[in-house]
Amino acid sequence: MRHPLPKAELHLHIEGTLEPELAFALAERNGIDLPYAGPDELRAAYAFTDLQSFLDLYYQLTAVLLTEQDFADLADAYLARAAEQGVRHAEIFFDPQAHTARGVDIGTVIRGLSGALEHSRERYGLSTGLILSFLRDLPAEDALKTLADAGPYLDRISAVGLDSAEVGHPPAKFAEVYAAARDAGLRLVAHAGEEGPPEYITEALDVLGVERIDHGIRCLEDPALVTRLAAEQIPLTVCPFSNVRLRCVDRLEDHPLPQMLAAGLLVTVNSDDPSYFGGYVEDNFQGLHRALGLTDSQLERLARNSFLASFVDDARRGELLAELDAAAAAPGVSAS
Ligand code: HPA
Ligand code: ZN
Repeated sequence: MRHPLPKAELHLHIEGTLEPELAFALAERNGIDLPYAGPDELRAAYAFTDLQSFLDLYYQLTAVLLTEQDFADLADAYLARAAEQGVRHAEIFFDPQAHTARGVDIGTVIRGLSGALEHSRERYGLSTGLILSFLRDLPAEDALKTLADAGPYLDRISAVGLDSAEVGHPPAKFAEVYAAARDAGLRLVAHAGEEGPPEYITEALDVLGVERIDHGIRCLEDPALVTRLAAEQIPLTVCPFSNVRLRCVDRLEDHPLPQMLAAGLLVTVNSDDPSYFGGYVEDNFQGLHRALGLTDSQLERLARNSFLASFVDDARRGELLAELDAAAAAPGVSAS
């Protein structure tokens, strides 16, 4: 196998990196009983019919995360895997409400995660950001309270996001909390157009004012929206393995990513919840090459887009793009 291309990962839920082995290790450390005989039996349960069937298991397993050390261990395990996959910068979602609802203090979550991220640059050469994500199937008031509770830690947070069950929970529900996040100096992103309709993408842009759309694949149902997204170069953080595992797309061979590239959309490729969906970000790149015949130059375009769409400062962006240029020029460096 050749070396992976340097890239940024912009759509990654840290809770979705919990590998079954770590879940069992943390369960034992915390005296928690998981309703599975072991990691293999747990892995066998990873057969999803839609987003909700995945979320049920994803939230169930968060029960093993209790202490600052648990969150730090989770993040460090991801960073080690990501570095092997060519990730040079990661913007990482976390779901505080999945933890505060179980009685875990938001400070415990943020201190644990950010403690691990602090060492990422020196340990793995990997720069990072944290995205505080609101659960859209909970009331907007809960999101406002979550943002307020995160107040003492906002210097460790780069953006807010919106995830969980999409259909029936349109972006406009969160207009007030997004305005408050913007006033607090945070960048704005939202999941839209994964299971939800193209209108949710437009609403996320026009009502919430987001700068990136997470997923967004259903934009293809609305040609005028595709034209707009291409003209404004709104980044879309697409997650091919996730789309297949959650049955938004039948097979990787049917994934619309080539169509999205051809339409001039600023597409990036990401792993979403890699422990649950069969692979990390480089595995997604390789899958696209194998299943859809994406060429080296298309894969380079995706890697370049990931740096263009990231929230790094101009100096870091320049460094990352130069690294990609060097890798792309070197023989034998590719995702294939
Ligand atoms: N979609 C919505 N919510 C999520 C996801 C996702 O893919 N992963 C974790 N929470
Ligand atoms: Zn996601």
